[in-house]
Amino acid sequence: QGFDLVLRDAVLATAGDTCRADLGISDGRIVQIGQGLAKGLCEIDVAGRVVTPGGVDAHCHLDQPMAPPVKLADDFHTGTRSAVCGGTTTVIPFAAQRKGGTLQAAIDDYHQRAEGRACVDYAFHLILTDPTPAVLNEELPRLIEAGYTSFKLYMTYDALKLSDGQILDVLDVARTHGGMAMIHAENSDCIAWLTRRLEAAGRTAPRFHAVSRPTLVEREGAHRAIALSELIDVPILLVHISGGEAVAQIREARAKGLNVYAETCPQYILLTAADLGTDDSYFGARCVCSPPPRDKSSQEDIWQGLADGLFTVFSSDHSPFNLTGEDGKTPGGKEVAFRHIPNGIPGIETRMPLLYSEGVLGGRISLNRFVELTATQPARAYGLYPKKGTLAIGSDADLVIWEERDFTLDNAHLHHAVDYTPYAGMTLRAWPAMTLLRGQIVWDGTHFAGAPGQGQFLPRGLPSLAPPSARRGAQPAWR
Ligand code: URP
Ligand code: ZN
Ligand code: ZN
Ligand code: ZN
Repeated sequence: QGFDLVLRDAVLATAGDTCRADLGISDGRIVQIGQGLAKGLCEIDVAGRVVTPGGVDAHCHLDQPMAPPVKLADDFHTGTRSAVCGGTTTVIPFAAQRKGGTLQAAIDDYHQRAEGRACVDYAFHLILTDPTPAVLNEELPRLIEAGYTSFKLYMTYDALKLSDGQILDVLDVARTHGGMAMIHAENSDCIAWLTRRLEAAGRTAPRFHAVSRPTLVEREGAHRAIALSELIDVPILLVHISGGEAVAQIREARAKGLNVYAETCPQYILLTAADLGTDDSYFGARCVCSPPPRDKSSQEDIWQGLADGLFTVFSSDHSPFNLTGEDGKTPGGKEVAFRHIPNGIPGIETRMPLLYSEGVLGGRISLNRFVELTATQPARAYGLYPKKGTLAIGSDADLVIWEERDFTLDNAHLHHAVDYTPYAGMTLRAWPAMTLLRGQIVWDGTHFAGAPGQGQFLPRGLPSLAPPSARRGAQPAWR
């Protein structure tokens, strides 16, 4: 009854605490944590380096179909290969319902895209674009029961957006059957109106993307989403929060005791609207994402929320489009008006090293908070805890051994299929020296050592986040 593998002399960090110990692994799981463990069949001397749980990236887009010629650069193979090289061992990308289609068709399609290709364990969030009575009354409850326990709702994008009434219908299903509603909160009409005005004035360079989505657009969307969740009395999670005005809305909701959770992403602490360009050059297309990056003071508001517990999860929103070529940021090979630049930036591999470097080593967040934001709470929010997201006996042996060293990031270091990273030229202060997926080495510090098909599909339970406050709503008056 020896161990398959023992990690010796590790500084083990969880969301709760840090301790120096050995870690014993058998059959892909953590089976013992202690000092002076018996010898394993394999041994890794960690020599006092920090070991954290493998990351859970709960917001990334892989192989999601787009309107031609636009195409995501990463499929499940390249996207998840990139993930492990940056310390992420679980991903939850999106399975989008086609308008007029069923949720089941979306699930079936994405299983086909992932199977045999994924290099890390994976699950799918649904994207609900067409909440018909059949979806609300039959499909969604059945799929929540079957382990597809989260769904994203859009307030913007013509092809995806729901009306407030449709959002209420879906939140009511979440209240009855559980599951986590993720909301993309931006005011669609404001964006459309501003875009038309900007285009009429010939202002179509990438930098006007940020002008078309000022912070109030997100503040209003967040405010409205919070009100809808308060009306139904059901938790929501506001995704990719970019700025201080939305942060203030979330703070107010929390102070009232509402179960409003929130996500932010590396782009909102590291980029600003100036990265979309300060003149009309097309270079800024690389940083076009929605919501757009804001300003320095907004970055500070986001850091504050990361440090003090306002944010629940830190995700990449990896949405990879090549800069050059027919199918990416220059669709059809043309420099197009900002409205036609596909939204999103790559970041599945850099998510954890950036937060470790700038947050932990930069003295802005604790190591334990880093673990909480990148692994533990995403696992809790989406029903994967404690199999994923922590170092505990019985948990999957998904581990990252961290190496602290300074280097200048270059896209050539990365393992995605995208021709750029918005963070090129930045000095990073840490990178995984090793990543293990269920006890297997999948990144050795220099090479990807995993294989497509190694990743397993994860059926999920219901969210198990602690409520931000003790309040439990009374039965709403409309019931
Ligand atoms: O610009 C972004 N974030 N693109 C990805 C899609 C989304 O809304 O998350
Ligand atoms: Zn979104
Ligand atoms: Zn996204
Ligand atoms: Zn190599």
